[in-house]
Amino acid sequence: MPDPYFQTLFAERIGGANYGKGTEIYKFEKIKRAKRKALAEHPERKLIDFGIGENDEMAEESVRRAMAAEIDRPENRGYADNGIFEFKEAVARFMQRNFEVKLDPATEVNHAIGSKPALAMLPAAFINPGDVTLMTVPGYPVAGTHTRYYGGSVYRLPLLPENDFFPDLDSIPDDVRRQAKLLVLNYPNSPTGRTATLEFYGRVVEFARENNVVVVQDAAHVMLSYDRPPLSFLQVPGGREVGVEVHSLSKGFNMIGWRLGWVCGNARIVQAFADIKDNTDSGQFIAIQKAGIAALDDEGIPRRTKEKYQRRLTKLVEMLRQSGFDCRMPGGTYFLYTPAPKGVEGGPDFATAEDASQFLITEHSICTVPWDDAGASLRFSVTYEAADEAAEDALMLETRRRLEGIRLRF
Ligand SMILES: Cc1ncc(COP(=O)(O)O)c(C=O)c1O
Repeated sequence: MPDPYFQTLFAERIGGANYGKGTEIYKFEKIKRAKRKALAEHPERKLIDFGIGENDEMAEESVRRAMAAEIDRPENRGYADNGIFEFKEAVARFMQRNFEVKLDPATEVNHAIGSKPALAMLPAAFINPGDVTLMTVPGYPVAGTHTRYYGGSVYRLPLLPENDFFPDLDSIPDDVRRQAKLLVLNYPNSPTGRTATLEFYGRVVEFARENNVVVVQDAAHVMLSYDRPPLSFLQVPGGREVGVEVHSLSKGFNMIGWRLGWVCGNARIVQAFADIKDNTDSGQFIAIQKAGIAALDDEGIPRRTKEKYQRRLTKLVEMLRQSGFDCRMPGGTYFLYTPAPKGVEGGPDFATAEDASQFLITEHSICTVPWDDAGASLRFSVTYEAADEAAEDALMLETRRRLEGIRLRF
């Protein structure tokens, strides 16, 4: 097929004139292909899917009912712009109740159509060509991608077990510190499962002040905290002076597809975010914001979501340990991140986590997500579908049976 006349017009940020011609296959596409292969070659073998990074349940019935009522109200029909005040007030109540963080809903909160677009827009408020965003890896790459779109670059801070999955801020060279404008953090951390501590956040505030850096803390998984009560960056003295926190109703409230979240914290940064957002979208459907209020005001929803994923992770850790994996209960999120096996007794070696993951899918129909950014690791998600606890147990038993048959080397 000849190139379209506009082939040379594509922007460099997406590949320029070569856009659409690459042969590189991305991680999640490789996983999809391996799943298809496993199903085609072994239709009798059930695929055990620990690869999905999305909640497995619908939003709570009370939230769906609130939505059904709001959808019929004519006053909800129009552009929501930067969001309804009632939603901001519900966020303020939520932040006060869970973190004892007192926010002014008028100036310190702004909704977003999920936390992903918020993370995509925040670099627009700060990044000029040549600026640097400091980001932890492995991690959610969206703020880094948009930093590059604006002509900035990303300095990667590896999250390693020897640093307890905290970034080594002292290791950042002086020239990088001078160019850095944003420090993007994510705790509870996806995929490592590490939760933040007040001491760590205190060090972050100090670092931000010393180096004139703005902190963006991605709290998408905050209500899934197991080893300590959920912690907000805004709880730490000085947090509100140096940054914002991005929250989401996706994970803790089973509202992934509803697309609702918010940015809160420093009023001037929230204002800048709201300005960028106002020039980007017209706000989330007001009926969804009102259903979001019903969710935020119901403490039982995140509690039940947390209990379920904590129970499933406990079972997963026990089963994997019995199968030779060296893993511990994660502090938060619905992910378990654990060193990838190095090969199979008398069988293939795995040079990377991706090799290990491909082997487990194609040969044994066990799907995981590999991470090779900071040591070879596999991510197991407990968002698989299982009707009840007996079904969870049966899934663990079947996974253990398959893993025992493999004789993995670590
Ligand atoms: C760490 C992290 N941040 C943000 C998001 C985006 O969540 P949402 O846009 O659904 O709020 C995700 C989703 O997977 C995530 O894992």
